[in-house]
Amino acid sequence: MTSAEFFPHRHLLGIAGLQPHEIMFLLDEAEQWVALNRQSSKHDDRLAGLTQINAFFENSTRTLLSFEIAGKRLGADVVNMHIAQSSVKKGETLIDTAITLNAMRPDVIVIRHGSSGAVALIADKVDCPVLNAGDGTHEHPTQGLLDALTIRRHKGRIAGLSVAICGDILHSRVARSNIILLTNLGAQVRVVGPPTLLPPALDALGVEAFTDMDAGIAGVDVVMMLRLQNERMDGAYVPSAREYHALWGLTRERLAGAAPDALVMHPGPMNRGVEIASDVADDVNRSVIAEQVEMGVAVRMACLDVLTRGRRGR
Ligand code: NCD
Repeated sequence: MTSAEFFPHRHLLGIAGLQPHEIMFLLDEAEQWVALNRQSSKHDDRLAGLTQINAFFENSTRTLLSFEIAGKRLGADVVNMHIAQSSVKKGETLIDTAITLNAMRPDVIVIRHGSSGAVALIADKVDCPVLNAGDGTHEHPTQGLLDALTIRRHKGRIAGLSVAICGDILHSRVARSNIILLTNLGAQVRVVGPPTLLPPALDALGVEAFTDMDAGIAGVDVVMMLRLQNERMDGAYVPSAREYHALWGLTRERLAGAAPDALVMHPGPMNRGVEIASDVADDVNRSVIAEQVEMGVAVRMACLDVLTRGRRGR
């Protein structure tokens, strides 16, 4: 079978629409890059001669940096578009920006945007593969994949695990991509948070909702904490950071209610003392937060490689 048969998609806009075996294919592909990234010389030149544009219309530390590192380790010419200094600030429309980027003949474009659906809109206007690095509250597919890779490497599987995703589910594209991915691969997913931060129609997504943190994480194999996305809230969704921590923060005492070997995850950036206590975040025996970042580079290398294979005639 050729790569195109394993992964017959032009873009990676979301986890929705991917078959379980396609997700597994990307995770399997990422494993070789985990190994390469642990060597002192981290170079492969399969993307040599290709141009990768990273266009981040929203702030980012780890996602932007890891897409840049991923492209460079594969030998691509990587350019970051600096939005603050770009014509976007002069009122250029998204479509015109897309047409401009396309005219420079990139071979892959990585986009983060504050509006749900904006990345798909751009993908429609350009001639190369587009990777969604997070669009509004919609999806963040490479985050879902890197989380799944981290879980699989620790637990040996995804199917049959119980995973609690906790906190601001309503505004989280990370939660959305993870829910779709993990349920698709046969995990039991629970979402836990204040009623104001749980989206409606959770049943349709196949997850169980809890508003009580202790009940929500009881016995689970993975506890995934999320940041309160204050920048996406247009009012008061939670009483105060202090009260939020008391009711929904992950503390050592609370974590004791999960499975004894439960993994603690967080996509970052963390708000220590709000959704997660520092001693839990820093507990090397439980927290895999730094490893999630490491897996991010490998997963993004896999996605860049797989999506550009057609252009490289492979
Ligand atoms: C997340 C994001 O931007 O969606 N961060 C990330 O990519 N690792 C989550 C967040 O901002 O809280």
